[in-house]
Amino acid sequence: MAASDDVAPPTASAYLDPTYWDGRFGKEEHYEWFKDFSHFRHLLVPLLSPSLSVLEVGCGNSRLGEELLREGVAGGITCVDLSPVAVQRMRDRLAAQGTHGVEVVVADMLDLPFEHESFDLVIEKGTMDVLFVDSGDPWNPNPSTVDNVMKMLEGIHRVLKPEGVFVSITFGQPHFRRRFFEAPGFTWSVEYSTFGDGFHYFFYTLKKGKRSLESNSYQNALPAAPKVNMFHEELESEDYIFRTNVEEL
Ligand SMILES: C[S@@+](CC[C@H](N)C(=O)[O-])C[C@H]1O[C@@H](n2cnc3c(N)ncnc32)[C@H](O)[C@@H]1O
Repeated sequence: MAASDDVAPPTASAYLDPTYWDGRFGKEEHYEWFKDFSHFRHLLVPLLSPSLSVLEVGCGNSRLGEELLREGVAGGITCVDLSPVAVQRMRDRLAAQGTHGVEVVVADMLDLPFEHESFDLVIEKGTMDVLFVDSGDPWNPNPSTVDNVMKMLEGIHRVLKPEGVFVSITFGQPHFRRRFFEAPGFTWSVEYSTFGDGFHYFFYTLKKGKRSLESNSYQNALPAAPKVNMFHEELESEDYIFRTNVEEL
């Protein structure tokens, strides 16, 4: 669905400002960043079971929470977003549909208000990407980007149960994401698949307590920047897609 024309195109750092998202969600009923559930259902369903408790981080006005409910997840689905407007609109939508079983909460993913080891599955789609919009050189991101990404991941790792799973759906390529996912202190293994036609999105599966020796050795030998200058092309491409998603709506 198209966003209203009177939502100003954002500057990069606007993505970190809840008032930008409030303005947008105040006008927009439903928009799925990247792709909707049907495109990655085949990757997510094998990770689901009825008893799972799920946290979705940065839900916006996505229908992912409802889709999980439809798939039979009954252990509790909590969706959080920084934008109070997004949260209220999602609550209104669920109430209008008579949907029970999805709790929607205003919360900052950099300071998650949940007890340690609360969830079996944490999922984010396009939310961590917000932190990378203003990151500078993707091979050497700004310290503030690194701090925020690590805060987000540390919080997710903390609220996951000992054998919990974190799913990250993103356009961030492995050479830019694995260095964060595989930082010291995280016990999750890291695997990924891709989905999508033409442009491929990444579906990362991080299983807590399953970190492999192989992934440790990856961390010890972070890849050097390639000799061909992918940096400009890839950064432009990531940034372009992210902005296009906003500006074309
Ligand atoms: C690119 S949108 C993705 C929305 C949704 N996950 C989807 O797939 O359509 C990013 C979302 O992250 C939210 N967000 C941004 N910063 C956040 C933060 N610090 N804590 C929680 N949510 C945040 C925004 O309000 C927005 O809903």
